[in-house]
Amino acid sequence: MTLRSYKDVEGWNGKRVLVRCDLNVQVIDGIAETSPYGRIRRSCEFIEWLSAHGAKVIVIAHLGRPGGVDESLRMKPVHTALEYVLGRKVHYIGALVGSGAKEMIDNMNAGDVALLENVRFDSREIENDATFAKELGELGDIYINNAFGASHRNHSSTAAIQSELPSYAGALLEQEVSVLSEVRDHPKQPLILLMGGLKIKTKIGVIDEFAPHAEKIFVAGALANTFFAQEGKEVGISAFNKDEFFEVETLHKTCGEKLILPSDVCVGLGDSVKCISVDKVQKDEEMVDIGEEMISAFLEAAESANTIIWNGPLGKCETEAYCKGTERVLDALSKMNEKTIVLGGGDTIPLITESQGHTFTLISTGGGAMLKFLAGESLPGIEPLIAS
Ligand code: 3PG
Repeated sequence: MTLRSYKDVEGWNGKRVLVRCDLNVQVIDGIAETSPYGRIRRSCEFIEWLSAHGAKVIVIAHLGRPGGVDESLRMKPVHTALEYVLGRKVHYIGALVGSGAKEMIDNMNAGDVALLENVRFDSREIENDATFAKELGELGDIYINNAFGASHRNHSSTAAIQSELPSYAGALLEQEVSVLSEVRDHPKQPLILLMGGLKIKTKIGVIDEFAPHAEKIFVAGALANTFFAQEGKEVGISAFNKDEFFEVETLHKTCGEKLILPSDVCVGLGDSVKCISVDKVQKDEEMVDIGEEMISAFLEAAESANTIIWNGPLGKCETEAYCKGTERVLDALSKMNEKTIVLGGGDTIPLITESQGHTFTLISTGGGAMLKFLAGESLPGIEPLIAS
C-alpha cells in the first residue's frame, strides 16, 4: 500500500501544518505518560522533524472520549509532556477553531509548535462533520495524518479534513502501515498470535483473518476469563463480558485446536499473587495475571515461530504485582531478535522498556486501529491517503 507521503511536500518553511497525532495516553495525577515507546515520544519525532524544516506545526489530538467540553480531559497534561519531551516551548492554544485560535497561529514563527484543545470537545468531531473539518482546515495550509492509532475513526480530524487541505501521511503512520501491511499480506510462517486485554469483539476480526494461516492463537488476560465463564467454569470476581459468549462460541468453531486457553492463572492476594490451575479458582478470587504453564507454552511456540503478533496486556497491569507475567513475556520476546514481532495497544506500549523496544519489528501506537488494519478493514483516516 503506497500512501501520499509527507516527503512529497516541497518547501515547509513558514507553512501552517496541521498534524493529527494520537496522543491519547494515560494521565495519572495530572501527569501524562511519556514512556520510551509511547504515543507522545513517538509523535514528537515527527513534530521535531516538521519544526526543524521550518513548518508552523499545529498539533490536533484527542484525549479520552469526552461528550463535549470536559474539564478533566483538557490537553494541559499532554501539553506539559510535549514541552518536556521536545525540550522547548509549545503554544497551548486552548481552543479548537475560530478567530482566537487563528490569531495565535498567525503569530507563530516558522518552526514553532502549537497544540490545539482536545478535538473531541467539539461534538461534531465524532460525526465526521464537514463544517467542523472546514473550520479546522482554515487553520492550516497542509494536513498530515500521523495518528495511526486514531485512523480507524471516521472523524472530522482524521477523515473529513482531508477534503479541505492537501493531505499526506506522516512518518510514523507510513512506518506502521508499511510493517503491518507486510505482516498481514506476507507473514513469515510459522505465525502465532497472542491476544490479551478485555474485549473479544475488538479482536474477533483479526483472529478470523489469521485463523487459517496462524499456527497457534493464544488467548490470555481478561479476554480468557470470558472463555472460562462461557464454558461454565468458576471465574470468581474476575472481569469478563457476558455479552460476548456468542463470539466465544464462534471463535472456538473458527480456530478449533489452534486456540490455546490458559491451563493456569494467578489470582490476586493484595500485593502478591497465587498461581493455580484454572479449575481451582474460588468464588471470592480474582484472576489477575497469566500463569507459569501458559507463559511456558507461549514462549515455546514463540521460539519456533517466525512471526508473532501480540495485542493487549496479559494481566491487570495497572497494579504492578499483577503485571509480572506480561513483563516476563515482553522480556523473553525482546531477546528473540531474528523474528518478526509486532506489538500494539495503548495499554501494552507503556510497559515496554527502553532496552526492550528497539528489538521489536514494530511497536504499533494503535490498539483498535492495528487490529482493524490487520483484519483487512479499510481505515477512514488512511483510505483517502492511498496513492492511486
Ligand atoms: C486509542 O486509544 O486506541 C486511540 O487513541 C483511539 O481512541 P478511541 O478508541 O477513543 O477512538
